[in-house]
Amino acid sequence: MKILVLGSGGREHALVWKLRQSPRVSAVFCAPGNAGIAQLATCVALKVTEQAALVQFAKDERIDLTVVGPDDALAAGIVDLFQKNGLRIFGPTQRAAQLESSKVFAKEFMQRHGIPTARSGSFSESSEAQRFCRGASYPLVVKADGLALGKGVIIAQNPWEAGLAIHEIMDARKFGDAGNRVLIEEFLTGEECSIHALVDGKNYLLFPSAQDHKRALDGDQGLNTGGMGTFSPAAKLVTPEIEERIHREVLVPFIAGLEKDGLDYRGMLFPGLMITADGPKVLEFNCRFGDPETQVLLTRLDSDLVELLEATIDGRLADVQARWKADAAVCVILASGGYPGSYASGKPIAGLDHVADGITVFHAGTKRDGDKTVTAGGRVLGVTALAADLPTARAKAYAAVEEIAFEGRQFRRDIAVKGLTA
Ligand code: AMP
Ligand code: GLY
Repeated sequence: MKILVLGSGGREHALVWKLRQSPRVSAVFCAPGNAGIAQLATCVALKVTEQAALVQFAKDERIDLTVVGPDDALAAGIVDLFQKNGLRIFGPTQRAAQLESSKVFAKEFMQRHGIPTARSGSFSESSEAQRFCRGASYPLVVKADGLALGKGVIIAQNPWEAGLAIHEIMDARKFGDAGNRVLIEEFLTGEECSIHALVDGKNYLLFPSAQDHKRALDGDQGLNTGGMGTFSPAAKLVTPEIEERIHREVLVPFIAGLEKDGLDYRGMLFPGLMITADGPKVLEFNCRFGDPETQVLLTRLDSDLVELLEATIDGRLADVQARWKADAAVCVILASGGYPGSYASGKPIAGLDHVADGITVFHAGTKRDGDKTVTAGGRVLGVTALAADLPTARAKAYAAVEEIAFEGRQFRRDIAVKGLTA
């Protein structure tokens, strides 16, 4: 089989790494890829937005299966276009991917189908949103409806902050059309976890739990990022009782909702959940693999990923099972200094040649420059360790981090601390 992966981050490196291990796979291509992916796959100089050219490439190369990494490609309808051209592709259609690309669409879906989530209101006029905020209690969460590179969610502590957020999103159009509508919702307290489940339209297959660290600095301080590190399993937070509630209160009603709404969802479903005192509540749906959740999840996966993706596309998830290592995995992101703000690129990376046993270094923002690998993005590398338990995996990941250097290297020192038992 020939496989094409779309995207260029650590998630895509992990996908390529795992897909390459399948005995059924003869070649892997990645568009556009990065320096780490280039060691495992043939990189193709096409962006995920160059849809027509990607279709042509898949036809010319006789690609058997395309796997979509990022949300913007799904929102732009890449799956629909591949399907129209008779090409096999993993991911939900544009209509189904609205569960991620429109927060109002997702909220209405959850409300219709009784999936627990924060109380909220949606507004298409900024004056109405402003009026609502004047009488509300705080903190309050203001969200741009559409995709905004993870920056469209503002936690407002008072009416002034909420008003400014609404103004920036709806009047100044900071995120363009993503700000045509806003969702204003109740602030939830609790701890967050990342749930992944393959969904084939009628059935789902739950992956192990994971937790991300979204803030830039230790102790969950600083700005929101794409994710500074992950670990799996998140056994301390997602206890068997909480997992049972996630099945019963989120995933079962999700599948029933698809059927009632006539929505054919096939792909990865990644709900971000807040585990509150009242149980799990959905903060958002993502219609793709998480980044850097994928790095720890696929490190723990024993089964052939190709089989799981094909079963999802063909509606056969009820007939397959996934095998997982009992080991724990920890991924520490090394970022460029200044991320998620502005940062420099092109810094040579040292220490990539001798990586210890049980460590995989997934590349994100890297590229080749002559005979060197250099930084080329905010998140640069995901140093991922697998070990018998979480404390050991954590220690191994940080020991490996010390071996890798580049100017401005920035990382959190407390990844997975919240997963350790007291
Ligand atoms: P979202 O893109 O909707 O997941 O929001 C991004 C981040 O904002 C989440 O991971 C949470 O940390 C935070 N967040 C979103 N909605 C809420 C909420 N209702 N209450 C508290 N925090 C929230
Ligand atoms: N790590 C969170 C995400 O992929 O959205």
